[in-house]
Amino acid sequence: MLRNRDVVIEFRGVWYRYPHSDDYALKDINLRIYRGEFVVVVGPSGCGKSTLVRCINGLIPHYYGGELRGQVIVCGLDTREVTVQEISRYVATVLQNPEDMLITDLVEDELAFTLENLGYSESEIKERIRWVAKLLDIEHLLRRSTLDLSYGEMQKVAFATALILKPKILLLDEFTSNLDPYSAQYFASIVDELRRKEGTTVINVCHRLEYFLKYCTRLIVMNSGRVVADGDPRTVLYDVLEDYNYPPLVFIFKNLRELVNLYGKPITVEEGRLVLEKFLKRISN
Ligand SMILES: Nc1ncnc2c1ncn2[C@@H]1O[C@H](COP(=O)(O)OP(=O)(O)O)[C@@H](O)[C@H]1O
Ligand SMILES: [Mg+2]
Repeated sequence: MLRNRDVVIEFRGVWYRYPHSDDYALKDINLRIYRGEFVVVVGPSGCGKSTLVRCINGLIPHYYGGELRGQVIVCGLDTREVTVQEISRYVATVLQNPEDMLITDLVEDELAFTLENLGYSESEIKERIRWVAKLLDIEHLLRRSTLDLSYGEMQKVAFATALILKPKILLLDEFTSNLDPYSAQYFASIVDELRRKEGTTVINVCHRLEYFLKYCTRLIVMNSGRVVADGDPRTVLYDVLEDYNYPPLVFIFKNLRELVNLYGKPITVEEGRLVLEKFLKRISN
C-alpha cells in the first residue's frame, strides 16, 4: 500500500542522448515526484519534455536506445532493469494524436486490448469497460468502429484506453493541444477527479498552462534539457520565472502588482477576484 508522501518517480542524475545525436536531450535531471501530485511540465519546443515522459514509461532506453546515464526509478523499479510491459502495469501514456494510439477496429476491443495483454479475466475486463465508459460518457461509442469516430471522440477513446488501466501514474504529452478549450477543460477536470479519488499521480506536458492551473500542484519548467524551475505554481510563476510567456491572468496581475500595492499571487480567476476585492476594500477605507 502506498503512503501519502511516497515517491513514485525518481530521477537520479539523469543524462540522456538519442542515438546518433551529439547533444544530450536531458541534462542532469534530479526529481522526486510524489503520489497524488498533479505535475505540469512546460518549456519551449525541443526542451526535452517528451524525452522526460519517455524515460518514465520506459520507451527510453528500451525502444529508443541511446545513452542513458543515472537512474530512473518508477514505483520502485529501475526502468532499465524491467520491461516496458512491466512498467505499463503502473504507467499509462496519452499522446497528442489519438490516431497514433488506436490499433484495433471496434472501440470495445480497443479498450479490452491492453487489459487482455496484461492477463485480466473476462469479467474484470467487462467491469473496467463499464467503469471507464461511464466516467467518460462514451457508452454510446463502445460498438462503433474506431475508424468512424470524430477527432474528439477518438481522443476520448484514446484517453479511455489509458484510464482503464487505473494507472498509478498518468502521463499526458500535449494531449490537449488539438482540442477545443471546452474539451481541454473537461479532460483536465476528469484527470483531477481521478487524482483525488484514486491518488493517481499526473504528469501533464503542455503549452497552454491556463487549462491546468486550477488543478496543478507543482509546476516544472524545462529549458535546453534541464529543469530550470520546480515548485508550487504560484511561486514559480510570480517569484522564480522571469520573462516567461505567462498565462494571461498571471501576466495581468504581475503587471498590476508593479503598478499598485496589490498583494497576493492569484493563479485562478476566483483567486484574482479575491485579491481585487481586498484591494478595493483597502483603498476605500
Ligand atoms: N527520436 C529522436 N531522435 C533523435 N533526437 C530526438 C528524438 N526525439 C527528440 N529528439 C531531440 O531531443 C530534444 C528534445 O526533444 P523533445 O523531448 O521531443 O522536446 P519537447 O517535447 O520539449 O518538444 C530535441 O532536440 C529533439 O530534436
Ligand atoms: Mg514533445
